Amino acid sequence: MATPITPEVIHPHGLEVELALEFVRVVEEAAIESAKTMGLGDAPKSDGVAVAAMRRVMDTVPMFGTIVIGEGERDEAPMLYIGEAVGAKPIDHVRYPEVDIAVDPLEGTNLCATGAANAITVLAASERGGLLHAPDCYMEKLVVGPSCRGAVELDAPVKDNLKSIARRLGRDVEDLVVVVLDRPRHKKLMDDIRATGARIRLIGDGDLSAGIAAAVLGTGVHAVMGTGGAPEGVITAAAMRCLNGEIQARLVVNSPELEERIQRMGIKDKKKIYRSEDLAPGKHIIFAATGVTDGSLLRGVRFFGEGTRTQSLIMTRDTGKIRFVDSIHVEQGPDFKVRF
Ligand code: FBP
Repeated sequence: MATPITPEVIHPHGLEVELALEFVRVVEEAAIESAKTMGLGDAPKSDGVAVAAMRRVMDTVPMFGTIVIGEGERDEAPMLYIGEAVGAKPIDHVRYPEVDIAVDPLEGTNLCATGAANAITVLAASERGGLLHAPDCYMEKLVVGPSCRGAVELDAPVKDNLKSIARRLGRDVEDLVVVVLDRPRHKKLMDDIRATGARIRLIGDGDLSAGIAAAVLGTGVHAVMGTGGAPEGVITAAAMRCLNGEIQARLVVNSPELEERIQRMGIKDKKKIYRSEDLAPGKHIIFAATGVTDGSLLRGVRFFGEGTRTQSLIMTRDTGKIRFVDSIHVEQGPDFKVRF
């Protein structure tokens, strides 16, 4: 029987207790499978094994899950498609929670395929309706950490935003590091940032993990600017709700097909500037990610003789828990040993 998640029907920490560790299993398994393909130069393969592992483990989780942000549309099965139902088969009289899930089974597919840093497997979950159903299009984004909430505006000149960020962080603009996806479309943005004296870290892929880094002190990332994927934007927003950071974003609607598509999805104002609370409005939000390759926040998967070691980040908004989970997956054999 499906049970909508509401404060009345669950223990105050019910969603976390029931599902957070289950979701760690999902992202861990996807990370292990994709890490096995690291450096093979086969991005579709890296992505495919991550999707298959996520799907397999998700179907053991006691929930009525629906993928609201996934890999593709319904006819592209067996990927995790938008609208797909996931979760374990219900047992009679057991009330499973109803959950919306946004997945990016392998964020940084090319990073994994080339063995570059910062590939992660990631998902965000919430009660029904707690994540925006965004189409797989581009999105303009601005991500900052907790100290800079309310200090920036997506449409403000870059120099004004950087001055505000520097002021809030008590440093000079020259001491800021802004992460930007290395794309020709960002030429003007890069020129504008460079003109202020701020430093840029160009990344080949992975603006989602960069966004998380911007919201964590000590990572050396102070903001993420530029246009990237909308699905990654929604998942970033879920992370921001847990980390008290801020994302501001606007869909890039640049074709009649997309315009029609967003209307069908119920999005009326295509120019709307979304904030974290608009993209991930859920009360109960869970965010889970595992490092595939070593990154600024998470170590990648390590294989050793008797097993595998993973590092994950699992965050739950309503309980305010931010956990770094270091897991050793022992392959059972008569002589296994666990190293500290
Ligand atoms: P994948 O999950 O497909 O590997 O996406 C990687 C990524 O770099 C995202 O982090 C980013 O939002 C998006 O692709 C940018 O898209 P594009 O490569 O088309 O500029």
